[in-house]
Amino acid sequence: MKGGFGLSRSARLALLRRLAQRRDGAEGAAEEDAADPRGFAGLPGQRDLALIRAAGEALGLENPFFRPHEGVAGARTRIGGRDYLNFASYNYLGLNGDPRVAAAAKAAIDRHGVSASASRLVSGERPVHAALEAALAANYGTEACLAFVSGHATNVTVIGHLLGPRDLIVHDAAIHNSCLEGARLSGARRVAFPHNDWAAAERALAAERRGARRALLLIEGHYSMDGDVPDLARFAAVARRHEAWLMVDEAHALGVLGATGRGVFEQCGVDPSEVDIWMGTLSKTLSACGGYIAGRRALVDYLRHSAPGFVYSVGLAPPLAAAALESLAILRAEPERVRRLQANATLFRDLARARGLDVGRSAGMGIVPVIVGSSVGAARLSAALFARGINVQPILFPAVPEASARLRFFLSAEHTEAEIREAVQATAAALAESGPAELPE
Ligand SMILES: Cc1ncc(COP(=O)(O)O)c(C=O)c1O
Repeated sequence: MKGGFGLSRSARLALLRRLAQRRDGAEGAAEEDAADPRGFAGLPGQRDLALIRAAGEALGLENPFFRPHEGVAGARTRIGGRDYLNFASYNYLGLNGDPRVAAAAKAAIDRHGVSASASRLVSGERPVHAALEAALAANYGTEACLAFVSGHATNVTVIGHLLGPRDLIVHDAAIHNSCLEGARLSGARRVAFPHNDWAAAERALAAERRGARRALLLIEGHYSMDGDVPDLARFAAVARRHEAWLMVDEAHALGVLGATGRGVFEQCGVDPSEVDIWMGTLSKTLSACGGYIAGRRALVDYLRHSAPGFVYSVGLAPPLAAAALESLAILRAEPERVRRLQANATLFRDLARARGLDVGRSAGMGIVPVIVGSSVGAARLSAALFARGINVQPILFPAVPEASARLRFFLSAEHTEAEIREAVQATAAALAESGPAELPE
């Protein structure tokens, strides 16, 4: 199965030749650019980008990124005037587009306008901020919560602010970029442990903890590339034994894991107070945009008064806070949405596995990868499915190692069984039909 969409030997050689020509061109441009102190072409990563584009062009593949959706991107979507079955959006519970969520956002605009217009610290907040934070704190049973304008910025500013050069951050090797950026900003010593390996995390802390003032053990509740889940009880025990803070990024866990969608603690049957720092985003299940930190009052008060990404940034836009709050209320009132999402993801995973597709370690809760084994193969499979009316994104090197390049299916509570069967059948068929590819002239 792996490499089924790979290139024939002659096509591979032709592609390499074309890429070499492009690389020589790009290097020439980069050299020229290096002589220009105000140029941009020599920036890190520019050459890789040019090569990826060249590979796509040489293979006759349309760029699968930045496609404009013409309506709500839910279980179905409309792109370029055509309807697609959609597996590329994080609309896990189908709440983006829900009329109640839209009405809450519109009412907040009518009352407060679109923008919070300044930092909450200096210019004051809106009642909806406190209401959202109280609802999120209630989800985790924590004393307090603080909402930020972006999920990514939440991790960068909070990790970057809480830790410093005398500290230690031990993190899962598959942790999200936003956590890595925060860790880099902090200047703390960083140690990555193999994915989900709590024993390796323990060894890292045993070796490094003594030399550090504070330590942070950093994991996700539900990993977005693989759709798998950590053993939270084990990680909590490791953090406790080594006097480290435990921080869990719940971006893909809230509304997805646990019988009622409360997240990884509910899934694993762990008391949420075992985790010191709960982080999440408003952009996925909660169908808005923003991030949050939930935890003890001392932590939240400290961040509220000193985290640069909160103090020196505008407050969360009122319609986004209202949309997230309404989404959370619907999540509480309609837990059957969570059950539908989980049943859909399990069905997708099991059907795909039965067809011989490599779904990796997916727990079947909301995210199912189909590992293809090469970036070219993943891009071609994505294009073949798009032609059949199915929108699913390829994840290519360097986002994942080349050998685990994949398609990543985000399931929604709104997908029907027939749609899931259609998508799995189409994926298996497209892979089976693909012989070694030839390059278009
Ligand atoms: C694990 C994880 N953390 C943080 C973020 C950033 O959240 P946002 O996209 O809401 O800024 C993402 C986004 O995909 C994520 O997957």
